Amino acid sequence: MSILPEPYFTELSHLLQQATGIYFDASKKYFLEARVQLRMRTLGIASLEEYVRYLRQGAHRAQELKQLQELVAVHETYFFRHPQQMDLLRQEVFPRWGERIRRPGARVRIWSSGCSSGEEPYSIAILLVEHFGYELVRDRFELLATDLSEAILHKARRAIYGPASFRGHMPEAYLGRYFRTHRQGRALCEEIRSLVRFQTLNLKDSLWPIGAGWDLILCRNVLIYFDAPTKQHILRRFFELLLPGGYLALGESESLYGYTDDFRVISGKGAMLYQRPQATGGEQR
Ligand SMILES: C[S@@+](CC[C@H](N)C(=O)[O-])C[C@H]1O[C@@H](n2cnc3c(N)ncnc32)[C@H](O)[C@@H]1O
Repeated sequence: MSILPEPYFTELSHLLQQATGIYFDASKKYFLEARVQLRMRTLGIASLEEYVRYLRQGAHRAQELKQLQELVAVHETYFFRHPQQMDLLRQEVFPRWGERIRRPGARVRIWSSGCSSGEEPYSIAILLVEHFGYELVRDRFELLATDLSEAILHKARRAIYGPASFRGHMPEAYLGRYFRTHRQGRALCEEIRSLVRFQTLNLKDSLWPIGAGWDLILCRNVLIYFDAPTKQHILRRFFELLLPGGYLALGESESLYGYTDDFRVISGKGAMLYQRPQATGGEQR
């Protein structure tokens, strides 16, 4: 029997959508119900009415919403999740950056938004080190990785991974070069860990305290959980934060179609990147 009748489902899904952007249609009802039951058990609350009352109360509201949002976010990720997109970065984008970083003081800034447990930004860090060498990446690149969930960022900073994180297309040689065996799986080496800075950031918040002027923003497999107006709004903000000529990377099954025409499409073999056009007539970055 369902514990989550209307109007509670509507109220809870609305609260969560406002807080996180994550949209729950009727097909997600059982998922949400299971998460709410978990919270009720933890809190020792027997009835849904009581839980909703608890959640509505000013004193508990913010804290409880945080707990619930930790439980509803999907953190699925792994190393080298979309190798074709990484090839496109290596072939199309890295050579341009290579030219730029020869200029004194030039830096390249990369933001992985919705980074989950860190496999995505660490994969990018490995790719950069393979291409440019460690010293150049350390001195000339900034890698910021953010997520809504504090618990998942704790895991990202720890950087110890089980087999599920390696089900992508990580070249065998990288395992030996960048990981050491650990009793809980594999531990990423300090050299790569130190290249990525993690920070909590909710994409639904009106303030993103990360500054502007990014060369690449990755937002892979995050926007799929949001409704259309939220997606459109976030994409506009990404556009504004990118430097002219900067790139946006979405997940394999995602596209900008129907949300914005602002970006130039760069297609590769089995992958796409989106580029903020240069202001006028300038050479693409
Ligand atoms: C499916 S994972 C994607 C991880 C990685 N980008 C990838 O493609 O492998 C989605 C991540 O987005 C985060 N997320 C969901 N809503 C968010 C929001 N409003 N702000 C920031 N991160 C959010 C979740 O916590 C989760 O870690």
